[in-house]
Amino acid sequence: MTRIPWWRDAVVYEVYVRSFADADGNGEGDLQGIRSRLGHLRDLGVDALWLTPFYTSPLADGGYDVADYRDVDPRFGTLDDFDALVSDAHDHGLRMIVDIVPNHSSDRHRWFREALAAPPGSPARSRYIFRSGKPGERPGEEDPPNDWPSAFGGPAWTRLDDGEWYLHLYAPEQPDLNWRNPEVRHEFEDILRFWLDRGVDGFRIDVAAGLFKDESFRDLHGQDRRMLNGPMYSRPEVHDVYRRWRQILDEYDDRMAIGEVWTDGPQDLALYLRPDELHQVFQFDLQLAPWSAMAFREVIDAALKAVAPMGAAPTWVLSSHDSVRHVTRYEQPGGLPGIGHGRAKAALLLLLALPGSAYLYQGEELGLPEVTDLPDEARQDPIFKRTNGRTAGRDSCRVPLPWSGPAEPYGFSPDGVRPWLPMPRGWASVTAEAQASDPSSMLNWYREALALRRRLKDGLPDELEWIDSPDTALFFRRGPLVCALNCGENPVRLPAGIPLLTSTPLYGDLLPGNTAAWLTAP
Ligand code: BGC
Repeated sequence: MTRIPWWRDAVVYEVYVRSFADADGNGEGDLQGIRSRLGHLRDLGVDALWLTPFYTSPLADGGYDVADYRDVDPRFGTLDDFDALVSDAHDHGLRMIVDIVPNHSSDRHRWFREALAAPPGSPARSRYIFRSGKPGERPGEEDPPNDWPSAFGGPAWTRLDDGEWYLHLYAPEQPDLNWRNPEVRHEFEDILRFWLDRGVDGFRIDVAAGLFKDESFRDLHGQDRRMLNGPMYSRPEVHDVYRRWRQILDEYDDRMAIGEVWTDGPQDLALYLRPDELHQVFQFDLQLAPWSAMAFREVIDAALKAVAPMGAAPTWVLSSHDSVRHVTRYEQPGGLPGIGHGRAKAALLLLLALPGSAYLYQGEELGLPEVTDLPDEARQDPIFKRTNGRTAGRDSCRVPLPWSGPAEPYGFSPDGVRPWLPMPRGWASVTAEAQASDPSSMLNWYREALALRRRLKDGLPDELEWIDSPDTALFFRRGPLVCALNCGENPVRLPAGIPLLTSTPLYGDLLPGNTAAWLTAP
């Protein structure tokens, strides 16, 4: 029998390191904190962790601005802490995926400091993307080399005193690397090996489609700012990089890579999944879809169709450190408060019944909502600052996890320490400790669903078969398992089968609104 690689159907838990658990009492999460909570993750029943960047960084973008790719930032710990964490995670039966950030470094990276100190045209500058500006409208003024916007607001170019401009698709503190320079390629190959040798099981590749820019550097002329198939993303050259990375991964046992790839269509996405490239890419369509059975059906079909030609397994995600938490997304404007919670319970059964792997975001197992009332002065996301507060940014989904106790810091930090983002009043009832002893809690719902999935998954085929259902619902079958989700408000008749697990109690053979059920197929 051929062995299924672990990542193909894994449930991966995203740890946003800064907000997971603070062991050293500086108000920010750290590697020792994660180590101390591995029992929570094992009991939850996930298969792997994905750690967001913990590397040396000034944290201009929460660590996605790396100053040293081969070290741990002192606020998060040391390399020894990392080694101990990998070893303990493995002892708990958990694989470890780490983030790698190849599109840009921090402006404090040695290379960028050398580039700033070196003259235009020098080898030090050729590791980044420097260009001359264009004459501005008025005499003596200069415009950036082109009209590309930064994803965080404002232009994607910053001008130096000597007149050259450098490119940053994100914050100015995140200069884009020049992947046409072989030195950059070699450096990252070496960085991959550095972490593989330390025992990581995989990489999540940040901004994976961005590494190469079209050499024309043509203007966008006001077209869609994301321009996912435009001059900044998915240039053909990027695939050579991942072919090489795959060769490196294949030198080790059982290692994988998942790309954060945003594309305009499934064809571009599939290219990354060619058998000699990445193992997985994130498929964000479920996260982007509204609470609608029809919308879910469409995105599921499209996602399966996108990966099928490559023989790859799909990936599913509902929340991450970059998006609005789905409990909040699923609240109905003007509707009953709390409906998001019930929908999130139902959505979990959908996510876990689909073929492929599921990526969970820390805190969703506690049913955490967005913390929308953070004071402006507490917000740290560069999006907030660069849009002068017009866009709130992503801090609301990054509030530290409540572990125990009646008030801030809820066991996240030692008592008396203020966490890096304020934690709301009223979270005493949602702490992991409080939920563990409540059989009807979200935490116990996640544990139950994950445990059942683990028991069933080996018998489930990759194929999914739709079963006729009312428009407001979707029903499908994977071998012996039937999943039924009712996104409407009114009950619908269940498909045939014996109920195994339901997100709210059934009324006889009726599936209530905003509810999902798993059944054994007749
Ligand atoms: C990460 C973000 C980050 C951006 C720039 C994204 O894809 O997930 O959190 O701000 O890349 O590195």
